[in-house]
Amino acid sequence: MTQDELKDAVAAAAIVEIMPRLERDTILGIGTGSTANRFIDRLAALRDDFQGAVASSEASAERLRGHGIEVFELNSVGRLPFYIDGADEVNAHLQMIKGGGAALTREKIVAACSTRFICIADASKRVERLGRFPLPIEVIPMARSYVARELVKLGADPVYRQGLVTDNGNQIIDCFDFMIDDPVDMEARLNGIVGVVTNGLFATRGADVLLLGSVSGVERLTLD
Ligand code: 5RP
Repeated sequence: MTQDELKDAVAAAAIVEIMPRLERDTILGIGTGSTANRFIDRLAALRDDFQGAVASSEASAERLRGHGIEVFELNSVGRLPFYIDGADEVNAHLQMIKGGGAALTREKIVAACSTRFICIADASKRVERLGRFPLPIEVIPMARSYVARELVKLGADPVYRQGLVTDNGNQIIDCFDFMIDDPVDMEARLNGIVGVVTNGLFATRGADVLLLGSVSGVERLTLD
């Protein structure tokens, strides 16, 4: 199976996961990226069975609207029952690195407002230790050099993602060569650097369910 087929399989599994719990007034939290896109495309067939979605990026919002799914502002809705999104890396504790698509801040916000985070990923994303994938940090533009110097002190090799502006008008620094032993502690330390908007460690609030696609099928992992 190709990686694209695995992404499609986990998107289909996520539909099976949420379908029995959809009500006419359900609003879903939807992530960003190629795996989330496959989920959005499959969700289109169910558009009359739920109310709409909150998106973690302008790109996902546009895709949802393109399928006739109403997109709501997060401030106009209450708690969301589900947040469905991909990941760049995920460990055995369902902690993740996210933000390869630069949507990490809105992803973290929508995830925080959601009761159940369903992570959909192909098996290449499963790691023992987070950090081989460069950890993205969203920064206020004027703080970029300062934050980069602080990241060097923490042992990272920070690289400015040239030419990229996030949906929030900020910039991204990717931390290379930054293997992470204690994701909860590192998430807090990185967020403590002045000028950091947020970082791509989803450790304090990790996933609740991981649907992991491999050649042998889709495995469903939870912490309970
Ligand atoms: C975007 C993300 C994505 O979830 C992550 O990059 C995975 O993307 P893909 O499904 O394309 O592999 O965090 O900011």
